[in-house]
Amino acid sequence: MNNDMDNFLVSTRIGTIFLDRNMCIRRFTPVIAQEINLLDADCGRPLAHISHNFRYNGFVEDAKRVLRTLVPEEREIQNQGGKWYSMRVLPYRTSDNVIKGIVLTFVDITELKSANIEMLKLSYAIEQSPSITVIAGLDGTIEYVNPKFTEVTGFEPADAIGGHIRELQHWEGSSVPFTEIWSLLSEGQEWKGELESHSRNGLTYWESVKFLPIKDSEGQTIHYLKIAEDMSERRHTEELLRKSEMLSAVGQLAAGIAHEIRNPLTALKGFTKLLRSGAHNDSYLSIMSAELERIEQIVSELLVLAKPQAVDYLPKSVSSILNDVIMLLDTQAIITNVEIVNEIDDPLPLISCVENQLKQVFINVVKNGVEAMPDGGQLIVRARLAADGMVNIGFIDHGCGIPEKKLARLGEPFYTTKSNGTGLGLMVSYKIIENHQGVMVITSKENVGTAVVIQLPTIS
Ligand SMILES: Nc1ncnc2c1ncn2[C@@H]1O[C@H](COP(=O)(O)OP(=O)(O)OP(=O)(O)O)[C@@H](O)[C@H]1O
Ligand SMILES: [Mg+2]
Repeated sequence: MNNDMDNFLVSTRIGTIFLDRNMCIRRFTPVIAQEINLLDADCGRPLAHISHNFRYNGFVEDAKRVLRTLVPEEREIQNQGGKWYSMRVLPYRTSDNVIKGIVLTFVDITELKSANIEMLKLSYAIEQSPSITVIAGLDGTIEYVNPKFTEVTGFEPADAIGGHIRELQHWEGSSVPFTEIWSLLSEGQEWKGELESHSRNGLTYWESVKFLPIKDSEGQTIHYLKIAEDMSERRHTEELLRKSEMLSAVGQLAAGIAHEIRNPLTALKGFTKLLRSGAHNDSYLSIMSAELERIEQIVSELLVLAKPQAVDYLPKSVSSILNDVIMLLDTQAIITNVEIVNEIDDPLPLISCVENQLKQVFINVVKNGVEAMPDGGQLIVRARLAADGMVNIGFIDHGCGIPEKKLARLGEPFYTTKSNGTGLGLMVSYKIIENHQGVMVITSKENVGTAVVIQLPTIS
């Protein structure tokens, strides 16, 4: 028995020191001898003599207390080399239950300790992260939420944990269904985007969200993570910016309108005075009606900018609208020696539109093209179905072109380089195309020509 015990003590990796009732060393195992440089000669010496090997000086008291109370104690201590041990202080009983002293055992926990420190560091980072952080299990059950989550949503961890991550979002307002995100996650992929969320008080807010799988070292997904940022603040400033931009655009527009209408009004006032004073000339009346027409033209163009009136969007053929416009303007074009080249695919899928408004756009653009070629030339009108399902309509002229510096001003109200132009044509056109969920892009090179490309969604 004794032999077995000796063998065990020699081979065990648990460092052990036996003390007698006077706190003197009786024996120790090789492991601890190595770690703190104990020699055989240390047997019989008081524990106090070797305690300088540890960064802890409560040894002797601990051992004395355990001897008195017979209650084992445990603590974590470091040796002078920085190694960590879990030390247990136990009463040492003989087989006939006599307390002969104390046993100190030392288990090396250095690795565990540093892993713990690493983990602590990471968990502090997540706890104090400025991003909303949610960890869920493989079935989507929420297992952790950080304080930022509580701060933003008002939900305490106890409210959220155990629920499903699907419930964190307000899906009605979102453009993607949860199933789409969930299937990406299940395939080990991540999802990023903007989603609406709700807080405890029932308010909704926007989040910039990332859902991602957390994988172990073998690449197996073990958890799902949601990281999100409250975007309400950003959205709010964007909204303000948009509003102030709009206000300045409105101011600009109003100033322009006032200016444009004032000229014909001044003329009208002058002629009214003349008529009242008895002067009479037929040309007065024709000038007056021309001025009135100009005011009428400006006012009717501007009406399109007003709040979208109750107009009916109907399925129409864009090819036939374009053909109508070309027929309408062809004679005028011929006078200035412009040939309108018809490259319109027919039939094309129908588009949902207000026919008269689209006509207005096409007339504006074709007129601009014709006016850009005072010496004549070709104006190509092209329409075809693009791969993305949109109808692409191009108006390509080989006219004067637009200098790069002026390109940015297109669509500005009353921006015109023509003596009799209103400078409203393009602005109104942009607005109409936008109302039709389309886009209009103008590219141009001075003295080479201009291409206006309009893309409109088709009815699928
Ligand atoms: N195809 C084009 N080629 C060259 N310049 C163009 C072309 N289209 C537009 N522009 C330039 O953009 C300006 C603004 O065009 P917009 O249609 O808005 O007004 P406008 O043609 O001047 O006046 P309105 O349309 O009332 O007759 C034009 O004055 C012209 O300088
Ligand atoms: Mg024009």
